[in-house]
Amino acid sequence: CGIVGIAGTKDCAGAIVDALRRLEYRGYDSAGIATLVQGKIDRRRALGKLSALDAVLRDRPLPGHTGIGHTRWATHGKPSELNAHPHATDKVAIVHNGIIENFRELRAELIAKGHKFESETDSEVCAHLISQYLDEGLPPEQAAKTAIKRLEGAYALAMIFKGEEGLLIGARMGSPLAVGYGVNEAYLGSDAFALAPFTNRVSYLDDGDVVVVRGPEVKIYDVQDRPANREIKVTSASAGLVDKAGHRHYMAKEIHEQPEVIAHTLAHYLDPDARTVRLNEPRLAKALAEAMRLTISACGTAYYAGLVGKYWFEQLARLPVEIDVASELRYRQPVYPENGVALYISQSGETADTLAALRDAKAHGQVTIAIVNVPESTIAREADIALPTFAGPEIGVASTKAFTCQLSALAPLAIAAARARGHMDLATENKLCSALLGAPRHIVEFLKQESRIEHLGGEVAKARDVLYLGRGVNYPLALEGALKLKEISYIHAEGYAAGEMKHGPIALIDEKVPVIVIAPHDALYEKTVSNMQEVMARGGKVILISDKAGIAAAGAQVWQTVEVPEADPFISPLLYAVPVQTLAYYAAVAKGTDVDQPRNLAKSVTVE
Ligand code: G6P
Repeated sequence: CGIVGIAGTKDCAGAIVDALRRLEYRGYDSAGIATLVQGKIDRRRALGKLSALDAVLRDRPLPGHTGIGHTRWATHGKPSELNAHPHATDKVAIVHNGIIENFRELRAELIAKGHKFESETDSEVCAHLISQYLDEGLPPEQAAKTAIKRLEGAYALAMIFKGEEGLLIGARMGSPLAVGYGVNEAYLGSDAFALAPFTNRVSYLDDGDVVVVRGPEVKIYDVQDRPANREIKVTSASAGLVDKAGHRHYMAKEIHEQPEVIAHTLAHYLDPDARTVRLNEPRLAKALAEAMRLTISACGTAYYAGLVGKYWFEQLARLPVEIDVASELRYRQPVYPENGVALYISQSGETADTLAALRDAKAHGQVTIAIVNVPESTIAREADIALPTFAGPEIGVASTKAFTCQLSALAPLAIAAARARGHMDLATENKLCSALLGAPRHIVEFLKQESRIEHLGGEVAKARDVLYLGRGVNYPLALEGALKLKEISYIHAEGYAAGEMKHGPIALIDEKVPVIVIAPHDALYEKTVSNMQEVMARGGKVILISDKAGIAAAGAQVWQTVEVPEADPFISPLLYAVPVQTLAYYAAVAKGTDVDQPRNLAKSVTVE
């Protein structure tokens, strides 16, 4: 989860451990370092905290001026010394964050060529693939670039090469990576905070960038392998525990972190090799199998995640769902069934209404499950079963990455429920899991058009009122889109079920009210498009968020379009969250509001 690299002038292992310590906040379960010792790759790894790695290094010191280090947060393969990074052959050592989606295909290909794998990770394939190209005679830079081109997924990588003193190569696609400029030295790190002990001069890589460090010299190449200039920023030495990674606001940083943190959350709940869900706790399976009904409750954005969950649980698991905001549910004297399961969703795990609703359900004999981002929070502790999300600290008051991570936990839970209730065959489970694992890649792809969204955000910022429409599993996205816009830009916005528009909100339509329609080209597309036509027939200005096919089928009358990568409709709530977040973000930026701390709102509401 944390990456550090040093191309230095003195032994670097100690400095790498110190820098990794600054990344501890990202969470990890094992750690390791590799350096070049007289030109040869050597490494030390340990399960557990950095103190365990320290102890190994005291026993068996690791000299060397060029090195990489990693704190691992298990995704593919359990926490163990063998699965800890760096992964290495005799020619190259790598550290990796993220998910390599096509690792199975690559691994099979490399095994056929005689490579021997020692870990259960997806990451190890990177070391072998680069090694293969080195074996074929490519120099390190070309071998690395050729290998990187073949990787599918979201990742950050750092690597060192046998016999190449001072050479450090890094790459970024969806997971953050920064370059630090020192005196006669250069560094790589997951964020500026990790690099703070060495330097305050830092560049952030863009997605698709490859960085080649030779001694102190740094060259960055863009996705087309053209030399690229990435601005060197002077970061404040007093950088807090979490920095903005070169973004203007925490919210922007958190939007961009989504490929990484969604991957982490999915990796906890899915087996990427078998393409199955690994929520195998017998108590959970039993409760879901026997449940008469599922009650879902939460507040704010977390409630909308729950609403997406309702569609998933009903469609996949045929499990009846009752859902309400926690402030209502807690006082409504809801009728809880026997054998009922109740699910609470909360980023902070401290929201007073959500906690009260959970306690009420518990008192009425429901099995309680909580999806929470803060594992030591009250809601996590009081629920019978706590399912963590791995969004990391969310600083922006308006929830972004916490929401998509909640969805990334809800989807596997719905699949697990479907399986427990006998409604899911293996082939369908495989298909849904593959679709989920592709989400980080699609989001990386979507975020490439940010400048266009920035422009559109400027247009939306001119409006006084905005409507959002969606249908089916994307209806909650319309509600979330409207909430995001209200929260941070103070523009009045309403989300509606597309089919409900004609029963009221249509009266509001005129050329001054942008209508944002969320409509992937799925089974409900035609229905939503009919509602969109009703808007346009009354002079309404439509911003259509859809995929290629959906945009092509919509016709020329649409005012603006936002294209989202084509994907299995199952994951559309995960993907379509990102355009509504970015649109709200840029509308707020255009209006000049306090994006991270909007007026009157609190991050965690511990009062009723
Ligand atoms: C506050 C925040 C929202 C959040 C809601 C629920 O109102 O401003 O962004 O969605 O609380 O918070 P929770 O921590 O329970 O997810």
